[in-house]
Amino acid sequence: MPIFFWNDNLKVKNRFIDSDHRHLVELLNVVYDAMNQGKGPDVLDSVLEDLVQYTQAHFKREEDAMQRMQYEGYAAHKEEHDKLTAKVLEMQKRFLAGEVKLTVDLLQFLFDWLFDHIIKIDTQLAQAIKEAKLDVK
Ligand SMILES: [Fe+2]
Repeated sequence: MPIFFWNDNLKVKNRFIDSDHRHLVELLNVVYDAMNQGKGPDVLDSVLEDLVQYTQAHFKREEDAMQRMQYEGYAAHKEEHDKLTAKVLEMQKRFLAGEVKLTVDLLQFLFDWLFDHIIKIDTQLAQAIKEAKLDVK
């Protein structure tokens, strides 16, 4: 059962960004389900790794688009990505070391971050991509 839901407020009206974000929400639900079903560390390690990898790949795609159009908000946007990436990698490290457990609060934090980032920052990026007529779909 998913607990995080995609909705129209999350759409930035760029096909590649929207589809990436939708997939990130799905992955959060996959991690949640694994956690909720009491799956063992092997499964949790693997679903968490998928989430981490996909997050990084998605950020890279956005950053590549920004660089291609010499986006003026690049540095600030990348800084947001870097901060979250560092946080997620640290969380994963502590999880793998057995220092912390995965919790709903943690997943909720990631969802809230994504929501906030999309609304405040990715929406501007999608608009700039549209104005630049950059071929990113
Ligand atoms: Fe972004």
